[in-house]
Amino acid sequence: AIEHTLSIIKPDATRRNMTARINAKFEEAGLRIVAQKRVQLTRAQAEAFYSAHQARPFFGGLVQFMTSGPVVVQVLAGENAIAKNRDIMGATDPKKAAPGTIRAEFAEDIEANSVHGSDSPEAAAQEIAFFFAGTEIVG
Ligand code: CMP
Repeated sequence: AIEHTLSIIKPDATRRNMTARINAKFEEAGLRIVAQKRVQLTRAQAEAFYSAHQARPFFGGLVQFMTSGPVVVQVLAGENAIAKNRDIMGATDPKKAAPGTIRAEFAEDIEANSVHGSDSPEAAAQEIAFFFAGTEIVG
């Protein structure tokens, strides 16, 4: 089925001018970028977005990192888009990411790992609504 998933190009990637190379990976794999905006997250937004990770030891560092520069938030659409995007991104830790994936090619480390992607249909719906109004998503 056609799915929508929330993607974030993270501050390590915007800082190194890698947004187009990352978007090319999505488009080459057949995902369509149906919404996209460049934003500076506030601390409150980053804490709310990652609230599922609140108790994890890396939470403070993650919030600091995600607010350290601009991010590009996007909605990707396509057949099986949620799992497909996770394949395109590769494993969270770039040292474990398969060759050719975004994280293998571009990520700096397990925190500054260049991209985020929703991990389930429930997360995708919630994360898309966190950043986008329905009228901003144009397929
Ligand atoms: P993301 O897929 O956005 O989900 C949570 C983020 O926390 C993850 O990518 C990384 O940017 C960050 N992170 C930092 N340390 C860890 C860790 N040890 N395990 C998982 N995620 C981590």
